[in-house]
Parts: sequence; C-alpha cells; structure tokens
Amino acid sequence: MKKHLLDLLICPRCLPQEYPFMLENSTVTADDIESGVLVCAQCGYRFPIIDGIALLDPFATDNQQRANKYETDELVSSYLWSHFSDLMHEEQASQAYTTWAGLIRNQAGVALDAGGAVGRFAFEMSSRCDFVVGVDTSQAFIRTARQLMQQGTITVPIKDEGMLAREFTIILPAEWRRDRVEFVVANALALPFAAQSIAVFTSLNLVDKVPSPLGHLREMNRVTRHQQAQFLLSDPFSWSSEAAPAAEWLGGTDQGRFAGKGLANVIKLLGDQQGELAPAWSVDKSGSVWWKIRNHSNHYELIRSCFVHASR
Ligand SMILES: C[S@@+](CC[C@H](N)C(=O)[O-])C[C@H]1O[C@@H](n2cnc3c(N)ncnc32)[C@H](O)[C@@H]1O
Repeated sequence: MKKHLLDLLICPRCLPQEYPFMLENSTVTADDIESGVLVCAQCGYRFPIIDGIALLDPFATDNQQRANKYETDELVSSYLWSHFSDLMHEEQASQAYTTWAGLIRNQAGVALDAGGAVGRFAFEMSSRCDFVVGVDTSQAFIRTARQLMQQGTITVPIKDEGMLAREFTIILPAEWRRDRVEFVVANALALPFAAQSIAVFTSLNLVDKVPSPLGHLREMNRVTRHQQAQFLLSDPFSWSSEAAPAAEWLGGTDQGRFAGKGLANVIKLLGDQQGELAPAWSVDKSGSVWWKIRNHSNHYELIRSCFVHASR
C-alpha cells in the first residue's frame, strides 16, 4: 500500500466516529508498505497489510471470502476481459468504461471507485484527479488490480469452451498514471475514509449487489466533499433478494418509499435539499450504456447499465 494513503485512512469499525490508525510491525520498501498492521487508535482493532494489500473490510470473515464468487480465478479472468478488452481490440469488446470515463471532469483531489473490481475505472480517473483509490471486498480482484498497478501488464487464461482456454494479455496505456492509484480491500457500506475527503466518487454496477443500497449511498455522501464534488452511479438495477431484502431496494417495487424505477429514485434522493444525501446534488447527465460480461467464447451477457452523473 502506498505510504501516503495512510494519511487518508480511518478505522471503519468505529464509524460514525472517525479515528486514525497507527502503523505497527511494518516492512516498508521505498514508497510502499509491504506488510504491517493498522491499529485503530480508539478501538484497538488490528487490520493487516499482507503482500501490500490493506485488508480494511470490518465485516469480512474467512468463510465469506471463501464463499464469495468474486474470489474465483474464473471471475477474475472474466472481469479482466470486461474491463480491458476494448484496449486490447477484442472483437466483442464494449465501450462502456470509455463512455463512463467521458462523464468525469478533471477535478483536483482524491477519487474513490467503490466496488471497482480489477481496476479499470480507477486507472481511467488517474489522469483526471490527483489520486485514486479503488476499493472492493474481493481480495482476488484487489490483488489483480495491484499487479496491473505495479507491472502495467498481466496475462491470464480466459475460457474458450469447456476446459479449453486461451491466453489474454493486457498492457495498460503508458499515459495512465499508475503512480497515482492504489487499491485496498474495503466495504462500500463502511468506508475507511474520513468525512468529506473524496472529490469524485464512482459506483459502477454495485448498488444492486450490496445488502443496504441506501446505506451505500449514505456512505458515499459521508465521504464526499460538500462542494466541488462529482458522483457517478451506474447500475442495471437487477434487484434480487439474494443481495438485499426487497424492503431495502431503491426501486423495482410498486409500493413503499421507493416504488418505481431505481434510477429515478436515486435521482430524486440526490436532488432532495433536506434528504439523507444533502447537501443536494444537481444532475449533469443521465442515460445508459451497454456493458458486457464474458463467460466463454460463445457466451456474453449484455447488460444495460443506467447512469446518473451529478455534481455539487
Ligand atoms: C458487478 S461487479 C462491478 C464491478 C465494477 N464496478 C464494474 O462495473 O466493472 C460488483 C463488484 O462489487 C464488489 N462488491 C460487492 N459488494 C461490495 C461491497 N459491499 N463493498 C465493496 N465492493 C463490493 C464485488 O466484489 C465486485 O467487484
């Protein structure tokens, strides 16, 4: 973990109180903390840094990690293809990440990509902001994103058909500022960042995957600056009771506070002067992009991800 990230971190277990960490037992090489323990100055909880990866999800358990589908090699390969296939000129690639990136204006300060998987969007924002943190609950995704950050390239097998596979090599564009990016394991429902520390917050295809979609938006709002801030949310709003009980959904029902469609309800929440996402946001643009996930050579999922880009 890049050393200067330590200045931005707070203990996610103590939220809504914010307490800094002390670094113990660390091995530091140049600008990187290779290993160590982040100890909360208040509760004393110890979050490890292992192989450069800070493990800052206060809800993580070993069992959860093992059961998480996002920890498998197959999903890592699939997301690497989804994130970088356009750069490698793959025939079926989608342009979704370039379209999302085109919505973000240059902005001084720190950007945070929540649920950022293997890192494409964090790298995209590295040329628009001073520093970018990608967070995800999957250790396998964060390890892969960090490998790309350190080496600028990766080669993985991707499924062709059945047990057949081919090699897929990714080389990041030289103009992406890998020195301005870091990735940590953290939870979008309890982010290890202080209030109003983030200038640009992005959440792509995540809000329908968390057990508390409104909790995720409240966390976004806590960490994001009250002025000169941008927020990009994009999602297919594939509500499922596997991810969150229906009472927590922000749309997709015909009754209750969030009756109707998810994107319209998120836009309403953002614009509410007195609501839980105040100070209110103004919408710059909303729309949709076609996002693609690859399962094997003959099987792709085409997903319409509906976005809103807002500022305040
Ligand atoms: C559908 S994928 C989207 C990935 C990426 N944002 C994109 O659009 O390509 C959802 C991602 O969210 C991560 N995730 C799920 N629950 C999370 C949580 N509570 N906090 C942070 N990340 C989470 C998963 O590990 C996965 O990488």
